[in-house]
Amino acid sequence: MSAALRVGVLGCASIARRRMLPALAAAPGVTLAAVAGRDPARTAEVAARHGCRAAGSYADLLDADVLDAVYVPLPAALHARWVGAALGAGLHVLAEKPLTTDPARTAALLDAAAGRGLALVENVFFPHHPQLAAVRAALAEGRIGRVRSFSAVFAVPAPPPRDIRWDPALGGGALFDTGVYPVRAAVELLGAGLAVESAALRTGPSGVDVAGTALLRAADGVPAHLEFGIDARYRSGYRVRGTHGTLTVRHAFTPPADHVPDVVLHRAGRRERLPVPAADQVARTVAAFARAAATGARPGAAQSLQQAELLAGIRRAAGARAPRARRVPERSKA
Ligand SMILES: NC(=O)c1ccc[n+]([C@@H]2O[C@H](COP(=O)([O-])OP(=O)(O)OC[C@H]3O[C@@H](n4cnc5c(N)ncnc54)[C@H](OP(=O)(O)O)[C@@H]3O)[C@@H](O)[C@H]2O)c1
Repeated sequence: MSAALRVGVLGCASIARRRMLPALAAAPGVTLAAVAGRDPARTAEVAARHGCRAAGSYADLLDADVLDAVYVPLPAALHARWVGAALGAGLHVLAEKPLTTDPARTAALLDAAAGRGLALVENVFFPHHPQLAAVRAALAEGRIGRVRSFSAVFAVPAPPPRDIRWDPALGGGALFDTGVYPVRAAVELLGAGLAVESAALRTGPSGVDVAGTALLRAADGVPAHLEFGIDARYRSGYRVRGTHGTLTVRHAFTPPADHVPDVVLHRAGRRERLPVPAADQVARTVAAFARAAATGARPGAAQSLQQAELLAGIRRAAGARAPRARRVPERSKA
């Protein structure tokens, strides 16, 4: 049997504490080895809770020579720097979405990983849920006929005032937070060749976009209408309309492990709920990363790159400035 993949975590992020540290600790073939954070006491407490070592700083974690891989749940604007550093240290990387805030940097990191034979995977859960596979299968079987349009939405209520999502320097904003999901859903279901037709972003007082819409067009002309936001009620789903029916998926992007999928086919005046099992999409994503690391593969690289290009295209179409590559220092050497 091959040795377990030793994973370190850069930052005691909310998503790490709530979802990923438990998933990494529980994953077969994975050892949660260490966590690094800027606040030593908090990092020690998080490490103790998840049964791993606390590293003195992000740099110490990468230098420790006891890891095979890292998970990077830092604010979006810091991903490129630390993903690059981790690849430079010879580590496989599971990086939070968006992989970076700039398609050229995303492409460069994927190239760097390929050049070193390292796994680099963007941590997007929903493509690993069987409900996406069920929708793909239903479309391939022609159950709604030919696809004519697509719409998707992911919106969440406003995060607390000091949240990273309000800070332009940290890569905040609705597009990089919730917008990633409808964009990725379009990529997953409508394939390569999507282009941005138009987009609008609404800017909030802190200078980040707080909501937006985008109209994309697939290579075959099928339009995709996307909505996202971080200041409204929770909405999460998508709809594919075809010549003979419609597929609707509710709770599409962040279903908990015990959620019974709500994938509904409307056709010829009838409503049929497709039989899709509940699934732990976080555990499945971690398992997929462990498999990728075993072979140094980059599954989903093309989708991550296409997603990055579409996010940049949406910003351009909406007249937003490209995010500045401003370096945000690690506050202290913890
Ligand atoms: N895949 C998903 O479903 C999902 C869900 C939620 C979030 N995310 C992504 O995960 C990332 C983190 O989101 P989150 O909600 O977990 O954010 P968060 O709780 O604010 O975590 C970010 C962490 O980054 C570290 N950090 C380093 N420099 C920082 C700075 N200048 N300001 C603030 N934090 C800094 C902090 O850890 P230390 O202080 O311990 O060093 C902080 O805990 C984002 O990229 C987000 O898009 C993904």
